[in-house]
Parts: sequence; structure tokens; C-alpha cells
Amino acid sequence: MSAAHGPVLELLGVTKTYGDVRALGDAHLTVHRGELLAVVGPSGSGKSTMLNIMGTLTRPTSGTVRVAGYDVEALSDRELSALRATQIGFVFQQFHLARGVAALDSVADGLLYSGTPLRERRRLAERTLRRVGLGHRLLNEPHQLSGGERQRVAIARAVLGDPPLLLADEPTGALDSRSGAAVMDLLHELHRGGTTVVIITHDRDIAAALPREVRVRDGRIAYDSGRAGRPDGAGRSDHVGEGAVLSRDGVST
Ligand SMILES: Nc1ncnc2c1ncn2[C@@H]1O[C@H](COP(=O)(O)OP(=O)(O)OP(=O)(O)O)[C@@H](O)[C@H]1O
Ligand SMILES: [Mg+2]
Repeated sequence: MSAAHGPVLELLGVTKTYGDVRALGDAHLTVHRGELLAVVGPSGSGKSTMLNIMGTLTRPTSGTVRVAGYDVEALSDRELSALRATQIGFVFQQFHLARGVAALDSVADGLLYSGTPLRERRRLAERTLRRVGLGHRLLNEPHQLSGGERQRVAIARAVLGDPPLLLADEPTGALDSRSGAAVMDLLHELHRGGTTVVIITHDRDIAAALPREVRVRDGRIAYDSGRAGRPDGAGRSDHVGEGAVLSRDGVST
């Protein structure tokens, strides 16, 4: 694969059905490098389905998904793994940290399949844990961490390889307002550093504070503030999120 330019993420007419349930229907979405956007919508409306498809964890039933300019469908398994490893960090809605594993190793394992030697992975993991404010909890196992701290370990793991695109599914969903605010500060900081960030949230205040909001309802994108004010309803191909930092490169594997 060689470097690619243009949008970091595109969904073109993406549909996902499970039996006769249409979890996502005809979704069109373009995300440019440096954007920070919220995905909101009622429970069961298709938000996680959409994020999992963006993260190439779920295959769409139909439509095209492009990540960093690459048509996901056209990639071999090997290329897809490389794309995931180099381009995408994923914070899951139900974050699971392996029992009995210290925070440092949980994070270091995030680069297990990248070919990076253990020593280097541990060094990066320590640096990243310090970055999320957990430098004093490196050797704590999950049961020795608070919920907010566990969520920060999950984020550290997702951003360890410094992916240009970070997808976070309800990263503050299980947290009290103070830990939630700390996690949001961290996501904002990553965004300021140039990471493109997509956040699913139920929290209206969080969504309202982000530069772009996408609302999903009954498996449809019902509203996209990134399209607001465009009478033709077209995406904002000429627009990059406010405060964007355009310092990222494409895939270089
Ligand atoms: N693997 C699956 N098999 C069958 N149906 C599924 C599957 N995953 C999701 N669904 C259905 O697809 C719809 C969308 O689910 P999704 O998880 O995307 O919702 P969501 O918007 O993330 O909801 P929540 O806010 O509760 O997390 C729901 O009706 C759900 O029951
Ligand atoms: Mg969900």
C-alpha cells in the first residue's frame, strides 16, 4: 500500500442487515483528516453498527467503505490487518481488560501483532499510560483500577500506535461526570495533536461541544451538522473540522 490523501473515512451507501433487521440503511458519511465528531441517537439506532463498519470490524451488507482512501472490500486480509494496525484505534462500548494483566501489559499488547519487540511495546505503553494520567498505576490489574481508570487504559491501548483515526464507542458511558470529563479532555488533546476522532455518545452536552454532530435514527443518518447549510445536501468535501491539524500522513506500509 502507498500513501493516500483525501478523506480519512468514507461511507458510500452503506447498509447492514441482520436477518430482517436493518441496523444501518444507505449511510453516506465523509470524515476529513483532523475532524472531531459526535455520533448520537437512541439505543438500537445503529451507532455501534456504523462505528464497527468504519473500523472495518464489521462488513457491510452493501455499499462502499473507504479508510484512508482504501476501498476496504478490495483489500486482502493481510492488507486489511495492516490498515487497521496503522490507521485505526478503537475504543469499544464494552471495554474488557484481561483479568490479572497489569495495565502496562494490557496496553503493550495493543501492538502485539505489529512486530514491535516487547521492550519497545512496554516503553511505548508506559509513555502512553503517562499521557492518559496513569503513570502511577502501571502495574495495577483491572480489579485494582477504577472504572474511569480502566477506560483510560482502554484508550491508551487504542492510541498506542498513534493511529490517525480514533473511533470511540461511548467512551464516557460508564463513567461519572468527573472521570467522563477527564476522558473527554484526553480525546480533545489527541484531536489537537492531529488525530481524527469519532465519538459515539448519549451525552447531549458532550455532543453539543464537538465541532460536528451526526444523528442516527432507525438505522439512518437523520442529520449531519457537517452538511448543514448546504442546500444541495452534499457532503462538505471542501471543509475540514474546526481547529483541524493537518499533520497526518497516509498509510506507509
Ligand atoms: N450481531 C447482531 N445480530 C443481530 N442484530 C444486531 C446485531 N448487532 C446489532 N443488532 C441490531 O441492530 C440494531 C442496531 O444496533 P447497534 O448496536 O448499532 O445500536 P446502537 O445505536 O449502538 O445502540 P446502543 O446505544 O444501545 O449501543 C439493533 O436493533 C440491534 O438489536
Ligand atoms: Mg452501541
